[in-house]
Amino acid sequence: MENYLDLKNTTDYSKLKVAGEIIKDGGLVLFPTETVYGLGANGLDENAVKKIYKAKGRAQDNPLILHVSNFDMIPKIAQNISDIEYTLMKTFWPGPFTIILERTDIVPDIVTAGLDTVGIRMPSGIIANKLISYADVPIAAPSANVSGRPSGTNISDVFEELSDKVDYIVDGGECEVGLESTVVRVVDGIPNILRPGKISPEDIKKAVGTVKIDEHILKDIETDEKVLSPGMKYRHYAPKADCILVYSEDNEKMIKKIQEITQKYTNPLVISCNENAKYYDVKNKILYGSKENLNEIAQNIFKDLRKVDSFKPDIVIIEGVKNDGIGLAIMNRLIRACEYHFIKA
Ligand code: TXA
Ligand code: MG
Repeated sequence: MENYLDLKNTTDYSKLKVAGEIIKDGGLVLFPTETVYGLGANGLDENAVKKIYKAKGRAQDNPLILHVSNFDMIPKIAQNISDIEYTLMKTFWPGPFTIILERTDIVPDIVTAGLDTVGIRMPSGIIANKLISYADVPIAAPSANVSGRPSGTNISDVFEELSDKVDYIVDGGECEVGLESTVVRVVDGIPNILRPGKISPEDIKKAVGTVKIDEHILKDIETDEKVLSPGMKYRHYAPKADCILVYSEDNEKMIKKIQEITQKYTNPLVISCNENAKYYDVKNKILYGSKENLNEIAQNIFKDLRKVDSFKPDIVIIEGVKNDGIGLAIMNRLIRACEYHFIKA
């Protein structure tokens, strides 16, 4: 295919020049970052950014992140940056960290959904970084998925839903982190986590001495059995089948609860850690990794959620993980995938 670049087994990144030109000229490029794949366009070109919303079927009031490759790109798109904001950027960039800053006038309204702030991230993925350098403009890029679907962490998972909507595809293999970046906004000198990710609350506290987790994130995780009505705004990550998230700090209790639920259905699918899989007497299982390695689970979880529907289950029961470090981000995504159907055993 002429609009496909395979960079899985080569370090010849000079080939990204073509993709960079396409971005600069207003086209759409599907490309890898260290978190998830992005659906990228010239972030300063209103018409190019419109194509992103159209390709994803994304709500117009959900703002996009601008991706930069170096600090020199910042003053053009953001202003009145405080010391603490600088410290956060210097500490976590390049990396899976997005900061919300006061925007400048050059940023099109369509990027920020009309807000006076803009989300900015400098990815550490080398392909993303080179692509932005070649494009020589900030790249607006949401996660590569049709709105509502799990974010794409490899090309084959999103090929069907996006390949005919983009001008160029860059294949960099599997993403390293597997979950989208941590999104932070500093308010009154305190970094507020709006979306948890690999950069954890503990990491941020270590860098600047203070951190707050947005209360909605905590409420979701603390609230038991809150099921949102169907058709909710920003339905996210959800397979077609009904999903239930189950978690207990007591592993035996969690297993018992899941066994109990599986017995009520004819074709249940259980998504669990490798260690617990043997306790579930069901035909269909997906193992998301070892519970001792939350990074592995983070890397696999979107891919695993995409496999669910092929089993045609009448229920999906997913084991939760400890809410620590990147575990907070995993739980945040799983609660959404289960449309807030979360049982604490
Ligand atoms: O890891 C990532 O962040 C990936 C890769 C491609 O970089 N991108 C990504 O973009 O996840 P997206 O569009 O799927 O999610 C962006 C998140 C949304 O939750 C959006 O509401 C929030 O960032 N966001 C963007 N700009 C914002 C702003 N000005 N104020 C508050 N939230 C903002
Ligand atoms: Mg997304």
